[in-house]
Amino acid sequence: MSENQSRLDLFIDRMVSQRACLDFAIAQTQDMDGPVFELGLGNGRTYHHMIQYVTKRPVYVFERAVASHPDSTPPEDRVILGDVRETLPASLDRFGATASLIHADLGGHNREKNDAFARFVSPLIEPLLAEGGLMVSSDRMYFETLIELPLPQSAVPGRCFIYQR
Ligand SMILES: C[S@@+](CC[C@H](N)C(=O)[O-])C[C@H]1O[C@@H](n2cnc3c(N)ncnc32)[C@H](O)[C@@H]1O
Repeated sequence: MSENQSRLDLFIDRMVSQRACLDFAIAQTQDMDGPVFELGLGNGRTYHHMIQYVTKRPVYVFERAVASHPDSTPPEDRVILGDVRETLPASLDRFGATASLIHADLGGHNREKNDAFARFVSPLIEPLLAEGGLMVSSDRMYFETLIELPLPQSAVPGRCFIYQR
């Protein structure tokens, strides 16, 4: 990342990278049948992208308060409402290690806080991923057993990360 980048530059890099990493991960996992997890609904742009292109797998959303665009609001039975620090461990009993794809975009504007949060949630996310499953994140994660994959060509290094079990 260049010191001279504007907030607009950074935002565009993040959006382009998110789409490139999600498209890569959706294609790589298309033959898996485990669920897809969206951690952090926000406006619902990435959720909308996922339900558009993930056709044969259920997409579950983890969010503490749903406030998305009406076109990007998941059905109630696909929302796991609450703080991920509690809902992720509880989901291990429900789903086990079955997720084919997990996307996390939980961060805000403070980089130090985002990093501390990524350290906290990494061990909660790791056991949910199926063998061969992919995890896409806007923040660097801290996994013990997942390996970091090279980014697709159009993604900007540092703006998106991909991990595989
Ligand atoms: C940056 S937004 C996600 C934007 C989304 N990817 C989009 O394309 O619109 C982050 C979301 O994560 C949620 N979030 C942050 N921390 C959370 C936590 N501890 N538990 C549950 N949701 C959380 C916030 O409420 C917010 O809606």
